Amino acid sequence: MSGENIIYLNGAFVTPEEAMVPVTERGFFGGDGIYEVTRTFGHKLFSLDKHLDRLFRSLAYVRIDVGITREELAAATQETLDRNLGRIDTLSDYAVWHVITRGDNVMGGPSPTIVALFCVEIEFDIYAGTYVNGLRLITPGVRRTPVDSIDPKAKVLSRMNQIQAALEVKRVDPGATPLMLDGDGNITETNTGNFFFIADGKLCTSRARTVLGGVTRATILELAAELCIEVVEGDYTSYDVYAADEAFVCSTTPVIMPTVSLNGAPIGSSGNDGSLPGPITLRLIQAFIDHVGVDYVEQAMSQLGNNAAGGLAKAWASRMASSES
Ligand SMILES: Cc1ncc(COP(=O)(O)O)c(C=O)c1O
Repeated sequence: MSGENIIYLNGAFVTPEEAMVPVTERGFFGGDGIYEVTRTFGHKLFSLDKHLDRLFRSLAYVRIDVGITREELAAATQETLDRNLGRIDTLSDYAVWHVITRGDNVMGGPSPTIVALFCVEIEFDIYAGTYVNGLRLITPGVRRTPVDSIDPKAKVLSRMNQIQAALEVKRVDPGATPLMLDGDGNITETNTGNFFFIADGKLCTSRARTVLGGVTRATILELAAELCIEVVEGDYTSYDVYAADEAFVCSTTPVIMPTVSLNGAPIGSSGNDGSLPGPITLRLIQAFIDHVGVDYVEQAMSQLGNNAAGGLAKAWASRMASSES
């Protein structure tokens, strides 16, 4: 592995030391901007088109003119990736970030919109355990921002709403993830992913109105249609999840992570060892793996390279074997 970390900044490819932005810029001190995270599978960008669609919708919402065309941004993204591929193992992958800020500078003077692209190697150790052990979810008191305040459909930089939720939950259980409710007590999403549960063989999720339109969520909806799994989008509360058979959280980098419990109550049979992911979640994981052509679960486990990885890999293999028998 070789090569320098190369960052795209306003048309130039530079080193991290050269990638400087003014502290007097509103993106820095006001979170005045938007972002995207696109994953690679086998070093190829996955669904870049859908990420750029959402990026331009977010820009329109916050009224930032990015100053370059979609084609130029796509080409810059590919080039940023290409220039960084030499830095990672062939079995590893990147999360490729787009960060765009307004550029307004309180000190006055010329202030172009800032467009930064950079590659972050995926931290597989964060996710590997969750594939077999599941996420513990807790509903915090902090509610997801209402659509008429800051619309959750826009992927905006100012994430204090989700940060507050995570801080609250971590005080109760440092390893838990917040599952946020809206002002009416309906389930929305976690701080970093969309949420699904399975009840009576149906795949249920919150309405698109109150959540980020996740690219992973959209892909799962397509895969569910192919697998003839019925999908219902609705107003669900914690009650529905307590009674569910399975649940999972999804987002670009970890893809699908099963959920073991909500507020300490096991979901379905997931209190029992070896039951995660549940059968429908597992079908969706397998379909996702086929769709992207990379077994990202095994990839995560193999990248750990220690004893824990061996244990997790064994648990995963045994879960796969029991699903086939
Ligand atoms: C609040 C929130 N919801 C959902 C998602 C999932 O979106 P995607 O699947 O496009 O990564 C994210 C991802 O960062 C998120 O931050």
